Amino acid sequence: MMKDKKIGFIGGGNMAEAILSGMIKKKIVPPESITVADKMKDKLEILRRKYNVLITTENSALINNDIIILAVKPQNFKDIAPDIKDIPEKNLVISILAGVRIEKIQKTLGNHVKVIRVMPNTPALAGEGMSAISAADNCSRDDIKSAEYIFKQMGLSEIFEEKDIDLVTAVSGSGPAYVFYFIESMIEAAVKLGMNRDHASVLVTQTFKGAVALLELTAGNPSELRKKVTSKGGTTERAISVMDENNLKQIIYDAVKAAMLRSEKLSDNV
Ligand SMILES: NC(=O)c1ccc[n+]([C@@H]2O[C@H](COP(=O)([O-])OP(=O)(O)OC[C@H]3O[C@@H](n4cnc5c(N)ncnc54)[C@H](OP(=O)(O)O)[C@@H]3O)[C@@H](O)[C@H]2O)c1
Repeated sequence: MMKDKKIGFIGGGNMAEAILSGMIKKKIVPPESITVADKMKDKLEILRRKYNVLITTENSALINNDIIILAVKPQNFKDIAPDIKDIPEKNLVISILAGVRIEKIQKTLGNHVKVIRVMPNTPALAGEGMSAISAADNCSRDDIKSAEYIFKQMGLSEIFEEKDIDLVTAVSGSGPAYVFYFIESMIEAAVKLGMNRDHASVLVTQTFKGAVALLELTAGNPSELRKKVTSKGGTTERAISVMDENNLKQIIYDAVKAAMLRSEKLSDNV
């Protein structure tokens, strides 16, 4: 599907590496079809040595690539825009810049430019990312399929309307940090109650992994699975009742909503 496509990355940081390593590992394109542009020669050399990709310090050298992936920090979009303002109509721009709307990218690079916005998350670095994809009106079905195909190599990808991306950001974008927070809190609780930290870390991490594996295995409903392990008068029931008394569900709702509102505000100000 993508074998003969040339793919360029602007910005050779963490996310660019996660995406390109997934593509190379799964043999989506040969390494010599990928070019990475970055300001830092040293960083580029590391990527070249590790993956055999082509490298350049000139962002403008990428404008004739079939797919150009914008992977700099959102605040650097204004710096790279002048370098890539002549992108031909047939080429596709995929932006992973958090909070930068499709309209803003098209206004800056030209309304003719086909833009797909993707919101990945950090588990992509472990091949278990969740990427939300939304496309400008001028993108074809094949453009969208190409984006889905690329991001499926590092986890799951789903199509969303762009208006939902702030909520996506609050759920799967920031979500890994909420899970780490919960893991961190359970480890701290176990340590405070007398367990050594190494044991607590293994117990908690494996419990999270196992719970997710069970959820996937049974294609289950988390609420039903929870009820199954909550026997009347038992230990789990006691713990959940403390969570309910302290309104944990409401706290989580408030937190996700606050993240969504923050994402909307940041997007308005980019
Ligand atoms: N990490 C995540 O979980 C996540 C999730 C969703 C979306 N995103 C988005 O992914 C994007 C990349 O994030 P990241 O974590 O990979 O960032 P990163 O590691 O900082 O990578 C960005 C790279 O772009 C380079 N760069 C900066 N200005 C440049 C320019 N003018 N021309 C060429 N290269 C330039 C940076 O170099 P310097 O370091 O020298 O500045 C850096 O190597 C961000 O827009 C972020 O919003 C990230």
